[in-house]
Amino acid sequence: MARLVVVSNRVGPLKDSRKAGGLAVGLVDALKKDGGLWFGWSGRISEEGTFGPLQTESTRRVETATIDLNQADYDGYYAGYANKSLWPVLHYRLDLAVFERTYELVYRRVNDRFATRLKSLLRPDDVVWVHDYHFMPLGRALRAMDVENPIGYFLHVPFPGPDFLTALPNSHQLVRDLFAYDVIGFQTQRDVENFRAFAELELGGYVGEDGSVTAFGRTILAKAYPIGIDTEGFAQYALTAEAKRNQQRLMAALGGHTQIIGVDRLDYSKGLPERLHAFERLLENYPEHRGNVSLMQVAPLSRSDLDAYDKIRRELESVSGHINARFADMGWTPIHCMFRSFTRRALAGIYRGSAIGLVTPLRDGMNLVAKEYVAAQDPEDPGVLVLSRFAGAAHEMPEALIVNPYNREHVAEMIQTALRMSLEERKERWNALFKTLSENDSHHWAQSIIADLRQTHRATLAA
Ligand code: UDP
Ligand code: G6P
Repeated sequence: MARLVVVSNRVGPLKDSRKAGGLAVGLVDALKKDGGLWFGWSGRISEEGTFGPLQTESTRRVETATIDLNQADYDGYYAGYANKSLWPVLHYRLDLAVFERTYELVYRRVNDRFATRLKSLLRPDDVVWVHDYHFMPLGRALRAMDVENPIGYFLHVPFPGPDFLTALPNSHQLVRDLFAYDVIGFQTQRDVENFRAFAELELGGYVGEDGSVTAFGRTILAKAYPIGIDTEGFAQYALTAEAKRNQQRLMAALGGHTQIIGVDRLDYSKGLPERLHAFERLLENYPEHRGNVSLMQVAPLSRSDLDAYDKIRRELESVSGHINARFADMGWTPIHCMFRSFTRRALAGIYRGSAIGLVTPLRDGMNLVAKEYVAAQDPEDPGVLVLSRFAGAAHEMPEALIVNPYNREHVAEMIQTALRMSLEERKERWNALFKTLSENDSHHWAQSIIADLRQTHRATLAA
């Protein structure tokens, strides 16, 4: 069987991906079944950067190969273009976007370097699968070096509509580069529609009845492949000794209080201050919950050398401090906010011990925490998921309580509905959600896109 070669900026770790975010978690889950090579950044900065030695590691099935960045590459490509220009634009935050010509130049240079290093690792029958906004032009760079393998791409974050995306300088070039791939995968149908609209309205392309998109003489497949989790595996996590230990610690600390849980990288896209304000509104509107319900927010620090991330951390400290000072009583603190991370096994126990999973990003490509919360529940007494309509996951999880995260009053009301929900309704909703998650797990996700990639590539060669 042909080897799968996955390319992403963040690689692994294969064992404990607790700080890595949804991309690495999804890929670890997908790769551990079929194996393959995973290529990307080592996470380290060195003087030699992308010219330094290839660092390899392997487990039974997966081999990783990584290279360093130098300081200038880190500043221009990772901190600069990827996280100060692209990330805010793709998450609908033009107010936070910084556009610098040098960021873009370094981004393209680093993509070319990664393509060159990758080429030397490729075998003729490899299937190449590139991930996320760090590597949009990588496929074009590979094609320019005569790489003829099937090359697919998956965007883990949202793809905004053309009116919005055109605010990014040189957006045409960036989207044009995507046409070097054979298949482009998005999280939701909405993202696919936005991409098609960009191709038609901005690039003079056209959309075929079969979902293909043609522009610049290239026809590619653009389709939604919502990323899943290893649903069965995660449900099992919740039964491990580590999960149970954490669940028990939690129960002891709660002393009979009801808990709401939030778990997010500390990122401005996650709507954390808005979430705390909605919880404050719950305590204002329903005073019976004072002393009885608390919110635990796990928020591991992320990209903390960037100003926008430092700012959101300070804002969160200030908002949680304010609410705690306003409502806390002896033996009860309303908000427990932690800038630390937990292993996914520990998280499984924490989710299971929480009556409500509160997932309210302002924008999110998918949001795996929403899926993990559901997978970890006790089928006989499941908790309730309150989910933002702006998370990709909302498209697949209509049985959650869907909220508008900007509307505090509404979120507070939905938390109240969740707290009051009968066991029967909780079970009904949970069963439907769990079924969807089981059918669309991480394995299914990877298999569907790879099958389409092989087929599209064969068809392109035959044409
Ligand atoms: N995560 C973790 N430990 C933590 C916090 C988060 O392992 O302390 C994991 C979480 O279980 C999930 C991922 O990080 O699998 C976050 O993915 P999500 O799609 O929710 O958000 P992203 O970070 O990709 O924006
Ligand atoms: C999101 C992105 C990933 C990224 C992760 C963590 O999930 O889609 O590409 O790896 O956040 O962010 P970081 O900048 O630490 O890799």
